[in-house]
Amino acid sequence: MSKLNRRQFSALAASAYMASATPRITQAQSPNEQLGVCIAGLNGRGGEHIRGFNADPRTVIRAIVDIDEEVAGKRAEQIAKLQNFKPEVFTDVRNALDTDGVDILTCATPNHWHALMGVWAMEAGKDVYIEKPVSHNIHEGRALVTAAERYGRMFQTGTQSRSSSACRDAVQFLADGGIGEVNFARGLCYKRRKSIGALGDYPIPANVNFDLWSGPASMTDPKLTRGRFHYDWHWQRHYGNGDLGNQGPHQTDIARWGLGLNRHPNAIISYGGRLGYDIERKDPNYVDAGDTANTEVSIYDYGDKSIVFETRGLDVSESMGKEVATFFGDGKGNKIGVIFYGENGYLAQTRYDYCRVFDKEMNLTKEFKAGNVGDAHFANFIDACVSRDYGSLNADAMTGHLSAGVSHLGNISYYLGEQNKASLEQVVDAVGKVKSLDDNAATLERTVEHLKANGVDLEKTPLALGPYLEFDNESEKFTNNDDANEMLTREYREGFEV
Ligand SMILES: NC(=O)c1ccc[n+]([C@@H]2O[C@H](COP(=O)([O-])OP(=O)(O)OC[C@H]3O[C@@H](n4cnc5c(N)ncnc54)[C@H](O)[C@@H]3O)[C@@H](O)[C@H]2O)c1
Repeated sequence: MSKLNRRQFSALAASAYMASATPRITQAQSPNEQLGVCIAGLNGRGGEHIRGFNADPRTVIRAIVDIDEEVAGKRAEQIAKLQNFKPEVFTDVRNALDTDGVDILTCATPNHWHALMGVWAMEAGKDVYIEKPVSHNIHEGRALVTAAERYGRMFQTGTQSRSSSACRDAVQFLADGGIGEVNFARGLCYKRRKSIGALGDYPIPANVNFDLWSGPASMTDPKLTRGRFHYDWHWQRHYGNGDLGNQGPHQTDIARWGLGLNRHPNAIISYGGRLGYDIERKDPNYVDAGDTANTEVSIYDYGDKSIVFETRGLDVSESMGKEVATFFGDGKGNKIGVIFYGENGYLAQTRYDYCRVFDKEMNLTKEFKAGNVGDAHFANFIDACVSRDYGSLNADAMTGHLSAGVSHLGNISYYLGEQNKASLEQVVDAVGKVKSLDDNAATLERTVEHLKANGVDLEKTPLALGPYLEFDNESEKFTNNDDANEMLTREYREGFEV
């Protein structure tokens, strides 16, 4: 165990008390003895960080950072009510990291900021909880792994399924041969995403610091090409990673975990498009402000195992297929999860706190359920901040890096193929050559049926077909495509280099 500072020691004593005492500790420790938390990025997910770290008596929220002064002001008021004193409010994370009493930085900013904040915080001696995806590209994920090792800091990735007893028991069930040999998993992000509005020239809200918001990404003039400032950056690749890199890292993580894959894939190919918004908006010339795929299939070859990830942003209610409806137990609404295909049956993760097992005849044979997964994940992180036992973390830096990496590698193939509008015959031909344990042609056929059900005419708006990319796990480089290697990192702004 590395040397504890005074607050870590005090929180350790509280942990021991919580473990032995019944009922659970009832009186909060004095704020000086608690681990000080700084939360960066407070608009959406940051609210859950506030709830989680406020609820644990071992932590106190001493500081918050947001480049939107309105968001920061509201959250400061909310926290003051919860813990009876106001946290210090910062616009620039670097100033918060210099503040006395901050032991932990949590980050729920847009994706392009995750790695830089993580590295800066660990350099400054803080433990970090970084939202998924932990990186915006492969280079950044590796930088986080290196920093956690170099500075000896605790690192939790915000993939809360790792602390779900349902997912843990299900993964153990797979490892114990519960459905026989399992070499293939299908991740599903069937999540309706409407158009984010027309590509345009929109004003930057007066209450935000756009220079700091842009951070490691280049500054766009400054101008905004989407209407809504917060959240919709997910669908602009300069900042976000599309749904493969948004919802995806939860499911790609579970797929890797269940298959026991602690490495990158050997090869990848993706196809898809940002399709159907002209139909949604009833305007054949409509151009949506997003530039990530809303329909994407990525095939990952891991040698003797494989993963397929399907992103569908259009309506799936008429086109999810009977098999998916059965795994999820109904035929309506979004379908987000992972299906493991075993020799003797199937295991379906359909919620963070719920997994179900089916036999080959699709009879439900077993269920795994969990309590509050989010709380368990924060608690696992705080336990490690106290014990200094890196090995006890459920989702460490490498876990976050590999699972975000699955998304980045899939997107690189898609982005490189964006201009390669392919006929269906060409896509059939290309995926037919890719080694996979899936029926690649059948998955393509289902995707095409889904697009047709949403009125997409693939003659007019064909699928983009990405190149088949080979990847070397050790060097973290592609071995057959120089353009793809360029996309493993980005050009960083001066002063914001990762
Ligand atoms: N684990 C989960 O289940 C889960 C759920 C939702 C979101 N997330 C992740 O949380 C992150 C945030 O998502 P969101 O939906 O809340 O986005 P959002 O756009 O609603 O909020 C992001 C906030 O970060 C602030 N911000 C931007 N740059 C900043 C900077 N340099 N310093 C401080 N604050 C900054 C913004 O002003 C905004 O308040 C994303 O990476 C997302 O993937 C995780």
